[in-house]
Amino acid sequence: MLAVWRAVVFLLAGTVAAFVCLLALPVMLILCLVARPAALALLARTTRWERTRVAKYTGRPIPEAAPPDRLRDVWRDLIWFVGHALTGTVVGIFGVALPLAAVNAVLVPAYWWLAPADDPVSSPYPVTSWTGAAFMPLLGLGYAILSLWATPWLARTQAGLARWLLSPPPGARLAERVAELTASRAAALEAHGAELRRIERDLHDDTQNRIVAVAMHLGIVERALRRDPATALPLVLKAQDAASDALAGLRGVVRSIYPPVLTERGLDGAVAGLIARCAVPTTLTVTTLGRAPAAVESAAYFVVAEALTNVAKHSGANRCEVRLTGADPLVIEVWDDGQGGADETGGTGLLGIQRRVAAFDGHATIDSPDGGPTVLKVELPNGS
Ligand SMILES: Nc1ncnc2c1ncn2[C@@H]1O[C@H](COP(=O)(O)OP(=O)(O)O)[C@@H](O)[C@H]1O
Ligand SMILES: [Mg+2]
Repeated sequence: MLAVWRAVVFLLAGTVAAFVCLLALPVMLILCLVARPAALALLARTTRWERTRVAKYTGRPIPEAAPPDRLRDVWRDLIWFVGHALTGTVVGIFGVALPLAAVNAVLVPAYWWLAPADDPVSSPYPVTSWTGAAFMPLLGLGYAILSLWATPWLARTQAGLARWLLSPPPGARLAERVAELTASRAAALEAHGAELRRIERDLHDDTQNRIVAVAMHLGIVERALRRDPATALPLVLKAQDAASDALAGLRGVVRSIYPPVLTERGLDGAVAGLIARCAVPTTLTVTTLGRAPAAVESAAYFVVAEALTNVAKHSGANRCEVRLTGADPLVIEVWDDGQGGADETGGTGLLGIQRRVAAFDGHATIDSPDGGPTVLKVELPNGS
């Protein structure tokens, strides 16, 4: 019954749309054939609506191709438009009329005698006696059985045709995928370049300065040793301090390239370490986490590190949750009950996450309505 009801709703919406398409058909055809942008945009909107309608009914989305801008790309949409305009109304009315006829036939015995004698209830035969009326529910049963099969079949056929015409052809999917991969390769190169520049800056501005300081101190020690060796000891200690300082800086740079804790404790252990240092009480849930390539684990680690820094710095949250799930893709979710309003354009951290993740052909989404909560969800394909 539910299947018939869903099919009736689907077909009714299709009938209304088909009727409107039919009225607009001549104008649309002419305007699309001369490739008027407004008509093409209207066609794209109509097919998007149809995709949503079919996806809701069948539970399977129809993939959308890149927006077409030429007639060559649009002909499948146009064939659907013409086909739906010409057949949608008839198919819809037939699919909806069957169950309605079943209901009507069952009700006829209750009201046939109200009809005037010269204009009796006459579907499909004139009902002029109680015997005639008594047969109607039997006929209703026949209609009901027929519509139980025919109405969902009509809806499925209409949905199937729409899916066939409105899905991008396999070649287009492939072309789209190539475009996506080209973009992600460009993002990978860009991220790699940015990373190299950052390491170069860190080594140049920080580590190098600290080593220069060590060299300077050693120069002073040398001169002191020549003049008066007794005064050299405190200077040696200073040089030693400067060397320790330089070493600490160097360790910092190494950690920012690939945190050694990842090798030692794995991603879950490393993230647990980050959480232990987070000012907001945070829980960690790990489900079926496998080992991923070093670059992916490192990206995941930096994503969590940035997300937790944001939670501590901006959210005002009382509670935070980090979830790590799966191996391919590796899914990272960071949830906080703070004030929300995270905005990618407000700084560099979230954009950095986007760029890092795009380099792996992954996705990052942030959902942060005003008033919270904030959820950052990142999917990182493993590449294996
Ligand atoms: N968890 C969060 N809760 C509330 N606001 C956030 C959160 N994360 C980020 N934001 C907001 O989004 C902005 C952009 O974040 P981000 O790109 O990391 O920049 P920043 O360098 O300021 O941390 C932040 O300035 C902050 O206002
Ligand atoms: Mg930040």
